[in-house]
Amino acid sequence: MPTSRIRASDRRRFLRFLAGSSLLALSGPAWNGDRRAIAGSATDIARGPAITSPNEAINVFDFETAAREKLPAAHFGYLTTGVDDDATLRANREGFSKFQIRPRRLVDVATVDTTVELFGQTWKSPIVLAPAGSQKAFHPDGEIAAARAAGAMRHLQILSTGATSSVEAVRAAHGGPLWFQLYPTDAWRVTQALVKRAEAAGCPVLVLTVDLPVGRNTETERRFARADTRPCASCHQPGLAGFVRRKPMFDGLDVTGVSILAPRLTWDIIGRLRDTTRMKLVVKGIETREDALLCVRHGADGIIVSNHGGRAEESGRATIECLPEVVDAVQGRIPVLVDSGFRRGTDVFKALALGAKAICIGRPYLWGLAAFGQSGVARVLEILDWELELIMRHAGVTSLAKLDRSFVLDTRRP
Ligand SMILES: Cc1cc2nc3c(=O)[nH]c(=O)nc-3n(C[C@H](O)[C@H](O)[C@H](O)COP(=O)(O)O)c2cc1C
Repeated sequence: MPTSRIRASDRRRFLRFLAGSSLLALSGPAWNGDRRAIAGSATDIARGPAITSPNEAINVFDFETAAREKLPAAHFGYLTTGVDDDATLRANREGFSKFQIRPRRLVDVATVDTTVELFGQTWKSPIVLAPAGSQKAFHPDGEIAAARAAGAMRHLQILSTGATSSVEAVRAAHGGPLWFQLYPTDAWRVTQALVKRAEAAGCPVLVLTVDLPVGRNTETERRFARADTRPCASCHQPGLAGFVRRKPMFDGLDVTGVSILAPRLTWDIIGRLRDTTRMKLVVKGIETREDALLCVRHGADGIIVSNHGGRAEESGRATIECLPEVVDAVQGRIPVLVDSGFRRGTDVFKALALGAKAICIGRPYLWGLAAFGQSGVARVLEILDWELELIMRHAGVTSLAKLDRSFVLDTRRP
């Protein structure tokens, strides 16, 4: 079609897409990394202009393009970043291709059951919203919008210590029990207060994140921040004081001299938390069989295999590749969940077949949130639920309980 005949609205949408596209970021002076580091996917070049409503989305990656267009550069950088060369971020995606699905035929799959039970509570889907801080940086309704979407669809949500909405308000918006994620500070008094408040708000499970006791090198975030000309100082000041300023979980706590980092943290923390709360205790950020066994030995109630979405250390190792050794070490004594890089129903299927009880997503729902608020999060969950049901039907699996390792081939094994 001659250029002159392209509708002006189409041209405007295309220009908006280019302006928001990671492709432009590539050619700009602020970027010298791999294009896939931004997208977390190798296929973004094939995508079209940003969608303008959640229902236009064909897959969850469509929300990334829309989020990139809507967010200020620095906020998108925070959302998208990995660490160092973003190699672990990419590995998380590439890891799934090392496991292939072995479908079984001629099974009556007219109905499939995706419900999952976690610590006595039944959820409609094994897809969980991972804890993510600062969600009002992505949408004015932040965690509340995510909670409304997850609650209406009966998905579990894990609320971050660094949430920009209070645990009480998010609990009310969700309507069901939330899990609370804890970043232990270096001050026990502050840690204890966070735990007590989450328990009082009705959270049945405490998720202790152990993969970030020290700082991290988020280069992609810093490159995007350089491209952002807005003054950020009113919101972001250095140290915990700056961090907690918009974080309601810290309201009323004296954080003078306290650090969010806790480099002295050891396994003793599990016993101390056990003595502080009756909540179940799940450890997030485990990647090895050795640490999985230590979790069991110290009395943890569950594990989340996670590398923080490639945002902690640059291990270069996908969590889907860590999962089998953790599941084997634990031998069914406690539930194992997993996150990092999940973007497709087939990814979820593979992890569940390898022995995970549930999986968490981070960036996909944050893309949905950034692009459209509550309805964006809801559509992301709807797409992933639908994709999971579809692959279950293709593979002849009528319920998650029937999913086992016979449904996946680990191509790394001889
Ligand atoms: C913007 C952002 C903020 C995050 N904040 C937290 C947090 O406060 N606590 C935590 O335990 N994990 C946090 N995470 C990690 C997620 O819980 C989860 O492990 C990760 O996002 C999963 O990888 P995915 O984004 O590829 O799905 C954050 C991740 C992102 C992308």
